[in-house]
Amino acid sequence: MSWKNNLRDYAIVAVISLLIFSILSLYIFERRGYYNLYIMNKVLAGTSLILLCIVLLIGPLCGFSNRFTPWLTFRKELGMILFFLALFHSVVSLFFLPDKFPLLYFLNEGLVSFVFGLSSIILLAFIAIISNDFFMNKLGAQRWWFIQRWGARISFILIFLHLTIMKYKGWIKFFEEGGGKDLARPYLLPASFIAFVISVILIIVRIIDIIRNARKK
Ligand code: HEM
Repeated sequence: MSWKNNLRDYAIVAVISLLIFSILSLYIFERRGYYNLYIMNKVLAGTSLILLCIVLLIGPLCGFSNRFTPWLTFRKELGMILFFLALFHSVVSLFFLPDKFPLLYFLNEGLVSFVFGLSSIILLAFIAIISNDFFMNKLGAQRWWFIQRWGARISFILIFLHLTIMKYKGWIKFFEEGGGKDLARPYLLPASFIAFVISVILIIVRIIDIIRNARKK
C-alpha cells in the first residue's frame, strides 16, 4: 500500500476516533456537569474499547454482507490508534490521578482489575510492535495473522474483565438507588455501562458468527 493510501486510511480512522471521543466527552460532561483529566481518562478508555469492538466486529459483518469488506483494511489503523489511547489511559490512571487512584489502590482493592488492564496493554503493545511488513515477513504471513487475530481477541477479553470487575458494584448501585447526588444528571447511565453493553453486543455477534461458520462446515 502506498504511503498516500496509508495516510488517507489513518485520516479516516482519526476522524472516526475523534467523533467517538467527542460524543463520549459530551455525554460524560452532561452527566457529571464538569470536564477535567479524570473525565478525559474515562473518555480515552471508553473510546479505545469501542474502537476495539469495531475492529472485532468488521470480520463477522463481512460474513453477513460484502458491503463491509472495504473496512477490513482499516483494522491496522484502528488497532494503532486504540493502542495509543489505551496507553494514554493506563499512564494517566497510574500516575496522573493520585487523588482518585493512589498507587496503593492498584495493589489492594483494585489489584485484580489492574492485573487484567496491565496484561491487556502489554499484549496490545506487542501486537502494535509487530504490525508492520518487517515482522510479517520475519514471522510468515500465516503465523503473523494468527497472532494478530488471537492477540486482539484475548486483549478484548482482558479489557472486558478489567472493566466489569472494576465497575459492576457501581452499576448494581446505580440500578438499585440511581446515580449519586454529585451528578448533574443522575438519571443518565454510567458511560462505563454503555461500553459494557457495546462489548456484550460484540460478544453476541461473534457467538452467532461462530455458530454460522460451524453450520457451513
Ligand atoms: C495498566 C493498565 C491500566 C490501568 C492502570 C487502568 C486503570 C483504570 C482505572 C483506574 C479505571 C477507572 C476510571 C474511573 O472510574 O474514572 C479504569 C477504567 C477503565 N479502563 Fe482501564 N486501566 C488500564 C488498562 C486499560 C486498557 C488497556 C483498556 C483498554 C481499552 C482499559 C479500559 C478501561 C475502560 C473502558 C474503563 C471504564 C471507563 C469509565 O469509567 O467509563 N483500561 N481503568
